Amino acid sequence: MQNIEPVKRKSVKPVFSMCVQPLFLIGTNNEDGSCNFAPITWVSVTNERDDDYLIVLSMFGRKRTKQNVRRTGILSVNLVSRDLLPLADYFGTHHAEDGKMQDFPCPVSRGAVLDVPVLDASRWVYECEVQKSVETGDSETFFCRIRNVQIDERIECRNAFDVDLTKLDPVIYSGKYHSIGRLLGEIGDFMPEDGLLNKDEAVKVVNIYGRNYSGVTNHERIASRGIVLQEGNILLSYLQKPDVWMIPGGGIEGNETPEECCVRELSEETGVLVKPGKRLLLINEYYEDWKYASYYYLCEAIGRTEQHLTPLEQSFDEKPRWISLKEALECFSKHADYAETDEEKRGIYLREYTALLELNGKS
Ligand SMILES: Cc1cc2nc3c(=O)[nH]c(=O)nc-3n(C[C@H](O)[C@H](O)[C@H](O)COP(=O)(O)O)c2cc1C
Repeated sequence: MQNIEPVKRKSVKPVFSMCVQPLFLIGTNNEDGSCNFAPITWVSVTNERDDDYLIVLSMFGRKRTKQNVRRTGILSVNLVSRDLLPLADYFGTHHAEDGKMQDFPCPVSRGAVLDVPVLDASRWVYECEVQKSVETGDSETFFCRIRNVQIDERIECRNAFDVDLTKLDPVIYSGKYHSIGRLLGEIGDFMPEDGLLNKDEAVKVVNIYGRNYSGVTNHERIASRGIVLQEGNILLSYLQKPDVWMIPGGGIEGNETPEECCVRELSEETGVLVKPGKRLLLINEYYEDWKYASYYYLCEAIGRTEQHLTPLEQSFDEKPRWISLKEALECFSKHADYAETDEEKRGIYLREYTALLELNGKS
């Protein structure tokens, strides 16, 4: 959940192209006893009671299929898989009424339960009976009881919602034909172990792209940083050797939560024991083929512990310092000054400045 990033959207005129549906060929009986098929994608489902599902199918205009469904009350709903696309295009462009459907291009059987035409090459067929219909202007929507389902015997289907669409290979229509890429998993597979964040914890995300970003992320490092305020001062780490100020924090280790990491990093780097509160911000920095994610927590100082610097931090001669928030803002605001001389310092200062601006906006 924590890596979900907001998207910049724009408003456009009404379009329904994201009402995405699989493509079906609807089989019906003509008055003269011959059969008819037409591509229809406005097909969905609803239910009346627990396991009592109704196919919902909508048709506009005066097409033969609609008249046949009205007259007979029965129809077959034949899934179009990728190999049946030529057939779907044939039925989409050849019509019995204008005399263009000359040679019927495929073998057809009768349904197993209802007397409807069924395409032999379809891997999934519903045999349906109209239960109710609703007219909305030029369109009519039919609610159909499923009287039988025929599926390719190679396909497993343990319950009403179990299917591996990659095996069925359905054609998906959304103004253009698409196919299904891969099976991603089941409901619940993507639930984070610690549950959903509640609304109060929803976090703003800021992305910073370094000039050397390759455009592709191959590695990721996640860190937590703590903003500790006391009487107008903020706790910073000062790295004397490179002369760099930072908001204290560091990388997540093992199975640590970001909060646990924040507590550990601040105690090791500054000797201040903190209690992380609100998660203020997530900053993602992109350099070369790396993404560095930093969670910023507003922390309360609740005591003192022993500082434990890593050998690298010792070599920087790292010291905790309390400076006024105003001074810190001023220091980090100068990030652009280091653009030509020190890309790392520029990046760190821009990151910390972004975090403090967010803090100012929120406080
Ligand atoms: C990809 C595709 C999807 C279609 N979806 C629908 C639909 O959902 N509802 C509808 O009324 N017509 C839809 N049509 C149009 C009918 O298939 C078309 O009017 C067809 O000629 C009707 O044939 P018929 O007169 O033999 O019934 C679609 C056509 C295509 C090519």
